[in-house]
Amino acid sequence: MSFDLVFFGGTGDLTWRKLMPALFQAFRHGKLPPGGRILAVARDERSDDEYRAFIRERFVEVESAKRPSDDEFKRFAEMLHYRRMDLSQPEHYAGLKQWIADRNADTTVLYLATSPYLFPVICEQLGAAGLNGPRVRVVLEKPLGHDLASAQEINRVVRAAFAETQAFRIDHYLGKPAVQNLMALRFGNALFEPLWRRESIANIQITLAEGLGVGTRGDYYNTTGALRDMIQNHALQLLTMIAMEPPSTNDADAIRDEKLKVLRSLKPFTPESVARDVVRGQYKTGTVDGQPVAGYLDEVKVPPGSHCETFVALRTEVQNWRWAGVPFYLRTGKRLAGQHAQIVVNFREVPHPIFSGSACANKLVIKLQPEDGLELHLLAAKGGAQGEMLVPVSLDLDFDKAFATQRVGAYERLLMDAIAGRLNLFVRSDEQEQAWRWVEPVLQAWAADANGPRPYAAGTWGPPAASAMVARDGCTWDEES
Ligand code: BG6
Repeated sequence: MSFDLVFFGGTGDLTWRKLMPALFQAFRHGKLPPGGRILAVARDERSDDEYRAFIRERFVEVESAKRPSDDEFKRFAEMLHYRRMDLSQPEHYAGLKQWIADRNADTTVLYLATSPYLFPVICEQLGAAGLNGPRVRVVLEKPLGHDLASAQEINRVVRAAFAETQAFRIDHYLGKPAVQNLMALRFGNALFEPLWRRESIANIQITLAEGLGVGTRGDYYNTTGALRDMIQNHALQLLTMIAMEPPSTNDADAIRDEKLKVLRSLKPFTPESVARDVVRGQYKTGTVDGQPVAGYLDEVKVPPGSHCETFVALRTEVQNWRWAGVPFYLRTGKRLAGQHAQIVVNFREVPHPIFSGSACANKLVIKLQPEDGLELHLLAAKGGAQGEMLVPVSLDLDFDKAFATQRVGAYERLLMDAIAGRLNLFVRSDEQEQAWRWVEPVLQAWAADANGPRPYAAGTWGPPAASAMVARDGCTWDEES
């Protein structure tokens, strides 16, 4: 299958930091269909060779095992092309159309890796130039809006030029291997399904913790914050994967219909429940990996006195028969105790304990990163002088080891899916809008609350109020238990 893959924003961070390294991995793994062309589009003038040299240099920032050798890069670079475009000029789109038509590939993927404020102009121009035929797909990178109205506006312009089946909205968490394994665990095995409900599950915790601070992205981050940056998209997408009903088929819309139902069933926030069930925090100076680090307000491009949250913990419920009353705790933050992304499914305790000692219950831990795997925590009997003693043990499945040769990174997987036209791991506009609808009352309550976020020391697990919030239900966060 031949393809043309066009990156708008071809010299931007996302392109050289994530997309090109992912494409190179696909190339190295022999997954990139032969006969493809990759075209980077940006404002300044450069030749193909200058662009190739630019990308080659950027690979030093990639972990060493994923860097190309000279020979590999030479072969990869044969696919790379560059084109200067002024995104407001119709004739530049006509030129692009001609470049694509000359080859007449089976598929054209247009990846908008630009700032989202350019999405409307790009989509309008693509539509006007006729670069929206049935063989064209458009990939949209987040942030897709900063609230419901702006997300709806982006969707309106996308819809004016493209059918929903041509729109590939990226949430790179859906491309992570652990998330696909979650689907396999739930719907490829009969074992857990009878337990996957309120009768057996006490609570579910989703933690997306980062050790890094905002780095040089202070200007972007300060207008975004953790709720928009991580909860509205990544954390909610994981929640839908955990809570959805089994879809009737593995087709994109069957899956996305079920995910949408979960989003619609989330308990709506009120000003009172925001005050009770949502904790926002902002990191202060602290120590990470033994090194002193600056607080958020001292990061570059962060305005003095900013109330931007770098941490959110919240409690919600999925209001349906399967999940009624089961708390879902979501938590994310920058400059926390380390990089640690996982979902913990805490099962209920035995109804009638006959053993003395540990009362700890079963749990299933789905690890997203840094490791990628599953742990099932059970209690086992350890014989001793005082008789039987129950001790926690775990069954570990390390996917990195188990599938060492086949592991595929999130962007690599999603790029290959976009080329192949598989929409399963992309977000539909109604899901995305519903997620905004749900977080909006939180944004509004915070805007009206002059207190701002609670401080936490960098290198900790966030403000103590986040622990107090789950303690009200008699729970603890996983790393504190
Ligand atoms: C991005 C956020 O979507 O996800 C970043 O904008 C965040 O702020 C990143 O650091 C985390 O992704 P990952 O894959 O490194 O966990």
